[in-house]
Formats: sequence, C-alpha cells, structure tokens
Amino acid sequence: MIIKEFYRHNELVDFYISRGIEFNDDKQYPHLPIFSYIAEIDNQFVGAITVCKENNDFILDEVAVIKEREKQGVCTALVNTVIDRIENEYGDSKFYLVAKNPDVFKNSGFNIIQREEAPNFSECFSCPDFQKKCFPEVMVKMLKRK
Ligand SMILES: CC(C)(COP(=O)(O)OP(=O)(O)OC[C@H]1O[C@@H](n2cnc3c(N)ncnc32)[C@H](O)[C@@H]1OP(=O)(O)O)[C@@H](O)C(=O)NCCC(=O)NCCS
Repeated sequence: MIIKEFYRHNELVDFYISRGIEFNDDKQYPHLPIFSYIAEIDNQFVGAITVCKENNDFILDEVAVIKEREKQGVCTALVNTVIDRIENEYGDSKFYLVAKNPDVFKNSGFNIIQREEAPNFSECFSCPDFQKKCFPEVMVKMLKRK
C-alpha cells in the first residue's frame, strides 16, 4: 500500500459521499481542509482521508475506504499517517472526530468522550437527529510532539 498526500481536496468529495459520509447540498467541506492523503494498492485508489483544523484543534471529518478493500487496515494506515503528520508538524494538540463506528478508531488511540467535553466542532451537534435518532460517539486523541 502506498499513501501519498493529495492536494485537490474537492475531488474527494464525491467519493466520500458515495461511501455514506454526509455533506450539505453545496458539497463544501464543513471546515477548511488542511491536508488530505490517499491510499493506493497496485496503483489503484483505495481510500482517502481529509483533516481540518479549527483553532488549535484538529478534526477528522472524512475517512473512507472502497468497499472491496475494507477491513484490510487501509483506514488505520491513513489515520496513523495523519497522526504522525500532525505530531511532527504541530506538536501537542487534540484530534477530534465523530464516529458512528467508534471501534474503527480505537486501535489508533482515540477514546470516547462526552459531547460536553469537546468543543463545538461538528455539524452533527446541531442536527435534530443527534442523540435522538442518531447516536455517534465523540472521540479524541491527544497528540504529542515527536
Ligand atoms: C469505516 C471505514 C473507513 C473503515 O475502513 P477499513 O479500512 O475497513 O478499516 P481498518 O481495516 O483499518 O479497520 C480498523 C479497525 O476497525 C475495525 N472495523 C472496520 N470496519 C468496522 C466497522 N464497520 N465496525 C466496527 N469495526 C470496524 C476493524 O476490524 C479494525 O479493527 P482491528 O484492527 O481490531 O481488527 C470504512 O469501512 C468506510 O469507508 N466506511 C464508510 C465511510 C465511513 O463510515 N467513514 C467513517 C466516518 S466516521
């Protein structure tokens, strides 16, 4: 597997939507992306991740893997790549996400926290379904300068 930085964030939006990640009708990222990475196997695109920054916090808004390559560690490799990048480039910081499937992120060191412990970083928090019909977990990983 090869993971490489990908600068044309907007070109990933349709892929993310195709994998069930929600975007508004305008297909804009909810926060300004600071970096994206794609994963390739045998020169074929298999997954992508996009990280945003709000104030001093980092937000994992989007990560997705093509159906045929799920459960092969692609997501973990992408997540670990961006964790290394943030730790090297920015040092001590907090990395947040909202996950419907939190188990995916536990091996990368994310822990579930209460909504109240997190800043107001996600569109989910103002969604009428949040914690009524839809029950994602809020997670954080504390990043350390390397
Ligand atoms: C969620 C997603 C990115 C996981 O990608 P992946 O490459 O299959 O994940 P990995 O192979 O790296 O698996 C990481 C861990 O999560 C587990 N896992 C993977 N998919 C899971 C799921 N749907 N539910 C629970 N656990 C899951 C794996 O077993 C693995 O745990 P392990 O290391 O203990 O075996 C992928 O299924 C996807 O694209 N889903 C649609 C988009 C999406 O939901 N994105 C996340 C938004 S929060």
